[in-house]
Amino acid sequence: MTDKLEDIAQAMVAPGKGILAADESSGTIKKRFDGIGVTSTEDTRRDYREMLFRATDAMKSYVSGVILYDETIRQKAKDGTALVDVMKAAGAIPGIKVDTGAKPLAGPTSKIETITEGLDGLRERLAEYHKLGARFAKWRAVITIADGLPTWNCVKANAHALARYAALCQEAGIVPIVEPEVLMDGEHSGHDIDECYRVTEWTLRTVFRELYDARVSLEGMVLKPNMVIAGQKSTRQSSAEEVAEKTIRCLKATVPASVPGIAFLSGGQSDELATRHLSLMNAAGNLPWALTFSYGRALQAAALKAWGGKPENVAAGQRAFAHRARMNGLAALGKWDAALEKAA
Ligand code: 13P
Repeated sequence: MTDKLEDIAQAMVAPGKGILAADESSGTIKKRFDGIGVTSTEDTRRDYREMLFRATDAMKSYVSGVILYDETIRQKAKDGTALVDVMKAAGAIPGIKVDTGAKPLAGPTSKIETITEGLDGLRERLAEYHKLGARFAKWRAVITIADGLPTWNCVKANAHALARYAALCQEAGIVPIVEPEVLMDGEHSGHDIDECYRVTEWTLRTVFRELYDARVSLEGMVLKPNMVIAGQKSTRQSSAEEVAEKTIRCLKATVPASVPGIAFLSGGQSDELATRHLSLMNAAGNLPWALTFSYGRALQAAALKAWGGKPENVAAGQRAFAHRARMNGLAALGKWDAALEKAA
């Protein structure tokens, strides 16, 4: 089983490829659709995601896997083909978000801090998802930097849940994406890059200690972290070079070389910056793991806008998605260049 997990994990971070995070919950996708004036229904959500998965050339060349939401893994394309089969035909591995969301962490910081839930019944859900075709999963823990926060209680509880989730995934023959996200956006985002470094280092160290205690095989997982970056409300924004340099330093200090790959979340960075940062890190070279993308917003924002919910815009939406996928595929090789953006 370990061999197989390792093979899946390696395929997820294959050179020049990354992961499409299309696992927005019904609430989150509604927010995205509200932004383009589209009503979120089962059909519009299907149409939108089918558009992305049928961008076959881009999927084949740059997308190793897709993270799905529960509804999507069960959904059929307009012509009746299972969406899972559509993406498999394009060479992408189906994945599934299995946490049930970040809920207020009981205690004195409950207005700000969260604990991610979803462990109850997870063994049974994983068995079902495996039958539906999922070969990897995702669980997102959220860490907020604010005055005196995060608390050790929050870091520890979230890391522990991630490790329990990861162990259950591996038992089910599913590769866990372990995602501890130190937030860079939202109400509490006034911190600078060095504060992000401190909290990210602390979080990752705690996560890997918990993974060890739970006997999770590091060769059969993928880490999905935030980059080390200033919060959106910080008055001290950092250069792309500083983000790349500090992110690599932090990851080298905390992530064992036996982890096959690290696939970043975009976290609220602009499309182009998320690409630039990834490319700078890969261009620096000398890394013990593959470094790639597992972007949601930074891969989809342009496509969502170009589509606008109109069937006649499907080709334009696919072109916009294909462009970002190609740019990030190049960034995963350290070969992206700003001039390529202008040529688009
Ligand atoms: P973003 O790239 O939009 O941060 O989303 C990635 C993701 O899957 C967050 O859980």
